[in-house]
Amino acid sequence: MTILVTGATGFIGQHVVGQLLATDGVRVLATARTEPPTGKTAWLSRVPFTPFDLSTDWGDTDLFAYFGHPDAVIHLAWQGLPDYQSLAHVETYWLQHYRFLTNLISNGLTDLTVTGTCLEYGLQSGCLSEDLPTQPTTAYGLAKDNLRKALDLFLKNHAVSFKWLRLFYMYGKGQNPKSLLAQVEAAARRHEPVFNMSKGEQLRDYLPMTTVAAYLAKTALQQNVTGSINCCSGQPIAVRTLVERFMQENNYAMTLNLGHYPYPDYEPLAFWGDNRKLQNLLSNHD
Ligand SMILES: NC(=O)c1ccc[n+]([C@@H]2O[C@H](COP(=O)([O-])OP(=O)(O)OC[C@H]3O[C@@H](n4cnc5c(N)ncnc54)[C@H](OP(=O)(O)O)[C@@H]3O)[C@@H](O)[C@H]2O)c1
Repeated sequence: MTILVTGATGFIGQHVVGQLLATDGVRVLATARTEPPTGKTAWLSRVPFTPFDLSTDWGDTDLFAYFGHPDAVIHLAWQGLPDYQSLAHVETYWLQHYRFLTNLISNGLTDLTVTGTCLEYGLQSGCLSEDLPTQPTTAYGLAKDNLRKALDLFLKNHAVSFKWLRLFYMYGKGQNPKSLLAQVEAAARRHEPVFNMSKGEQLRDYLPMTTVAAYLAKTALQQNVTGSINCCSGQPIAVRTLVERFMQENNYAMTLNLGHYPYPDYEPLAFWGDNRKLQNLLSNHD
């Protein structure tokens, strides 16, 4: 089976490609705007890489043929992260992704996995399940929501196995330097005595990146469970506890300056994912 991974050079893409390469019977094709420099990724020499910028005008090109008729696509590409409030997400980006993906489908793609975000749920609190109506309040969340809904409509006339994996929070090697644990790590490396953060009482749902990559690969490699699927632990954790655990595991001795930053206004104080649909998928797969 041949799988094309878009956004393959990104934080998640690099882990997903590694995961797929370790899976029997899977051949991986990779794409992103820019080919990574040799040495940046462990897999580069083992995977055909086709540079492609989905914001360009490709005219009448059959992109399914251009990418070598893959059996499935895992679509991870997205631009402008992590600026969730930039209007470019709704004014420009999501439609580029829609055109890109509908080109692939119109030309023969039958199996598609796309990454969504928990920000599609907006300010809803508590345990969030896939059947809740989405209520995004960020430009990024709205753009992803638009893309999913437009694809749902388009796919009414196409026989495609469509999986929309709604990612919650994650941490791991290669994460964005602006993400919380990357900042803790950077501060510890600079031997700073104090780490400034919010009060840390907000409840979130975190998974290690390696687990997210395994779930993404398993989701893409099956066709029994489709539609929106939360990719999450189902276990809320206080952000303060997450940071303290991370510091303990790494022997970082900083003091936490809690309450230095306000809570973000685009997220509720406590939310996590209902992961029963994901667990069902995983139990069928194993
Ligand atoms: N990380 C998270 O916590 C998180 C949470 C929820 C959902 N997600 C979703 O998961 C996916 C992957 O996230 P990530 O954290 O891995 O993002 P990332 O590290 O920013 O990587 C983005 C990838 O997309 C590619 N890309 C960007 N613009 C492109 C364009 N115009 N044409 C083609 N490729 C383009 C980038 O390649 P170039 O650098 O060459 O442009 C890169 O490979 C995204 O769809 C994101 O919305 C992520």
